[in-house]
Amino acid sequence: MAEIKEAVLVDGVRTPNFRAHAEKGWARNLRPDELLTYVYEALFERNPQVKPEDIDAVFCGTANQTGMQNDIARLGWLASGYPDSVPTNGVNQQCPSGMSCIEHACRAIMADDGNIFIASGVEDMQNVPMAMGMDFPPRIANYYDPMELPMGPTAEKIAQLYNISREDAELMAYHSHLKAAAARDAGKFADEIVPVKALDDNGEEFMCDRDQWIRDNPSLEQMAGMRPAFRPDGIVTAAISSPLTTGACATLFMSREKADELGLSYHLRYGGGAMAGCDPTIMGYGPVPAVKKLLAMKGLTIDDIDVWELNEAFGTQSLAVLRELGIAENAPFDNVNVWGGALALGHPLGESGARIVITLNNIMKTDYADAKRGVATLCGGFGNGNATLWEKV
Ligand SMILES: CC(C)(COP(=O)(O)OP(=O)(O)OC[C@H]1O[C@@H](n2cnc3c(N)ncnc32)[C@H](O)[C@@H]1OP(=O)(O)O)[C@@H](O)C(=O)NCCC(=O)NCCS
Repeated sequence: MAEIKEAVLVDGVRTPNFRAHAEKGWARNLRPDELLTYVYEALFERNPQVKPEDIDAVFCGTANQTGMQNDIARLGWLASGYPDSVPTNGVNQQCPSGMSCIEHACRAIMADDGNIFIASGVEDMQNVPMAMGMDFPPRIANYYDPMELPMGPTAEKIAQLYNISREDAELMAYHSHLKAAAARDAGKFADEIVPVKALDDNGEEFMCDRDQWIRDNPSLEQMAGMRPAFRPDGIVTAAISSPLTTGACATLFMSREKADELGLSYHLRYGGGAMAGCDPTIMGYGPVPAVKKLLAMKGLTIDDIDVWELNEAFGTQSLAVLRELGIAENAPFDNVNVWGGALALGHPLGESGARIVITLNNIMKTDYADAKRGVATLCGGFGNGNATLWEKV
């Protein structure tokens, strides 16, 4: 049995996050496989020591693997013109799919099942809308109320159970936009965003290098006037929901010795990952058991983690998680989602789990350069949570 190896994050890139809308989305001219090509090409351009044929496997996370996203892991790689000798593996854990890919890659490296892996993620919520082609197993009604299973109702239920107010969730969204806009204006995303040839509001082509959903002037008054999106008497509006988004990302992982041999630099090592299940009618709770499991396995406490990336699927679910874990009570938070979260940046389902690791890496290189450990975590539709630990090398 070979010794356990170290898996290091060599690089990570993403497209901008686009509004998933046939008239208003800047990526309305693109398909999900084309977005993947952008991020794969960028990885090879930025790391010329690595050739496509050197990759041991490509993992690609996508929540809705139907239509244009049917076996997108394989077809997206082949449609990019890369060698068919490289195997691919489509992974689905709903929103944590991209994170799951990273765990597959890192565990393979640690087990000496290969040296160089790509873990990517893509979701085009315009061309492949959420729940397209979905056919719920009728027998699930023996255990859960099917009306409580879609994402919006889970965000309402968790708010009720954990006493999350609309005002607090709106405050979280407000600060998410402010932080994201400040990070964008300060050029913080420059290292991770690959410009994409997109269409502006007038239909003119432009090289887009910024996220479409960030609001420059978020307004608490405006948010307070918005109608509930999922229940007439509910509190969850579009402002406190992650918006429908299209985007792709890709990460390059290697064994530490391979990265050293190729002369590639790295800042973070995979410290472990934990998945946990929870009641699907409050799926947003998933990070709570996942983070608890991860920290217990590693002998760490919340205070040992210097910086957090928590995917903001909904403001209500994020606040419930932060309070239950004892990380924070109310926005603004300092060491959580330092450059904003999904409420502002968007949430292309299967992509986000890998995207938050890319952003965490960049935060730990710059604003939190002295941080020793970071955790990235997110919830998944129908009751999955996933959390990964990242350690500075
Ligand atoms: C909530 C939801 C139903 C709203 O969808 P929608 O009705 O298509 O609404 P949009 O996102 O287009 O927003 C409606 C309007 O409100 C606006 N709006 C959104 N957030 C706003 C804010 N913070 N302040 C002001 N206006 C806002 C939008 O810009 C849009 O107006 P526009 O078309 O003039 O630009 C949808 O975003 C959703 O389902 N989100 C959750 C997705 C999900 O479940 N993801 C998985 C999580 S686990």
